Amino acid sequence: MRLDKYLCDLGIGTRSAVKEIIKKKRISVNENIVTDPSIHVDSNDRVKLDGNLLKYQEYRYYMLNKPSGVITATEDKCSQTVLDLLSGENVKDLFPVGRLDKDTEGLLLITNDGNLAHDLLSPKKHVDKCYYVELEKPITKDAINALGNGVDIGDDTCTLPATISAVSPTSVYITITEGRYHQIKRMFHAVGNHVTYLKRISMGSLTLDDDLPLGNYRPLYDDEILMLQMRSSR
Ligand code: URA
Repeated sequence: MRLDKYLCDLGIGTRSAVKEIIKKKRISVNENIVTDPSIHVDSNDRVKLDGNLLKYQEYRYYMLNKPSGVITATEDKCSQTVLDLLSGENVKDLFPVGRLDKDTEGLLLITNDGNLAHDLLSPKKHVDKCYYVELEKPITKDAINALGNGVDIGDDTCTLPATISAVSPTSVYITITEGRYHQIKRMFHAVGNHVTYLKRISMGSLTLDDDLPLGNYRPLYDDEILMLQMRSSR
């Protein structure tokens, strides 16, 4: 693979940014400084940036704390997208795993690993998704029971049982194992309530980092990737 593509794939920067880095003699291949972006390298070559060895990763994984007002898409003519928030990265090939509504906040996994995404989103895998929800009206015991059993949200089948834990009369954590369109909002609508704020806290083994400010992202840690891969392959 061409050196400039290799560096782009690693997320070092865009094609033009990595060409600039190469021109500035910041890249060495097998201990020789290189200035030609078109030379070919492979995973056996020792490629360094400013003397630091780069680890080639075919797949990249990021945790984004999605803010409200941003759409879950790779591109859009009018609105800011979640990929626009990964400002320092080469976002080519990256995509969000699943959808959060424009006004929903919280955990969004962004990757170029299609197999992992497929497994996490597969209806057969029943991956847990936990949300923090604020409601217009106090939640009733009947509503908690109904949501726990499954409710009719106008689809062919009722929702699968959800787990609810109340934080206050008007705020709850709810865990669901499906990913239907506007599911949480429609579930609370079905029990006569209205969601005023929604934030995803976790998806499978991956939990939103408390220290990650709204609108920020970070690469997943190795153990987080491993846990996701182990669970999704079950
Ligand atoms: N359910 C919703 O209603 N909206 C989301 O963004 C996610 C789950």
